[in-house]
Amino acid sequence: MQILTTAAGLQAYTEQARSRGQRIGLVPTMGALHAGHLQLVQAARAECNEVVATVFVNPTQFNNPEDFRLYPRVPEADAELLAPAGCTALFVPSVAEIYPQPTVLKFDFGPLERVMEGAHRAGHFNGVATVVSKLFHLARPHRAYFGQKDWQQVAIVRQLVADLSFDLEIVARPTVREADGLAMSSRNRRLGPAARAAAPLLHQVLVAAAAQVRDGVAPAQVRAAAETALGQEPLIAPEYVEVADAQTLQPLETYVPGRAVVLCLAAHLGGVRLIDNVLVE
Ligand code: PAF
Repeated sequence: MQILTTAAGLQAYTEQARSRGQRIGLVPTMGALHAGHLQLVQAARAECNEVVATVFVNPTQFNNPEDFRLYPRVPEADAELLAPAGCTALFVPSVAEIYPQPTVLKFDFGPLERVMEGAHRAGHFNGVATVVSKLFHLARPHRAYFGQKDWQQVAIVRQLVADLSFDLEIVARPTVREADGLAMSSRNRRLGPAARAAAPLLHQVLVAAAAQVRDGVAPAQVRAAAETALGQEPLIAPEYVEVADAQTLQPLETYVPGRAVVLCLAAHLGGVRLIDNVLVE
């Protein structure tokens, strides 16, 4: 596995691969890798000749400086996991390499970002769109792989690709879960034992809410029941629970026949913010 640290190095590597007719899969990450990331790499490996993973804790997408400071960073362990999973190149740039100068461009994804993560984390999707655009320009992948745990991020990135005519395909892969249902996340490493023990409730609440949606229980009641269930665990502070259209992400007041619903939540557990979602088709 080639280790690349400069933008020019990444460009040269992927341009050479392209000129040899290789298909390039890009797996953008912020590191502290888990089985969910490795499944993205494996999926890319199955579909592309070159798999470029990126590990970059992107400062511009953090609205909370403490969250950025505490975000887990384990570069050596990440590199050791990537090669056996099928990664052929790892891009680990410095902040100065990605942001040689402050960016001034601002993205506005309209209604897609006025809800959930976008509403609760000011500037978050601007930072995501900025760094993802840079990575797409530098690596020019044929496909880029993202996890569905970040459902809204996938929708935003798809919009970005459509609006800016990036010549690539976005592949979204299902959330990978621990045996007790907790969605894998780099932030799970920061959970203390008590918070970790409470954390599976997030998924349990979503599963119960999904059953209610299938039974036709009104969205407002589904939201309220989920908030009540989360509120019964003193270690969990819910930030939002949403019953939304899976494509537009807009909160639902009633169900529209034939349209998928996504149930999303964000909650704080002992100072760690986690998100999760479940799709009801
Ligand atoms: O999902 C993430 O880890 C990040 O938001 C991403 C896509 C790597 C951009 O920094």
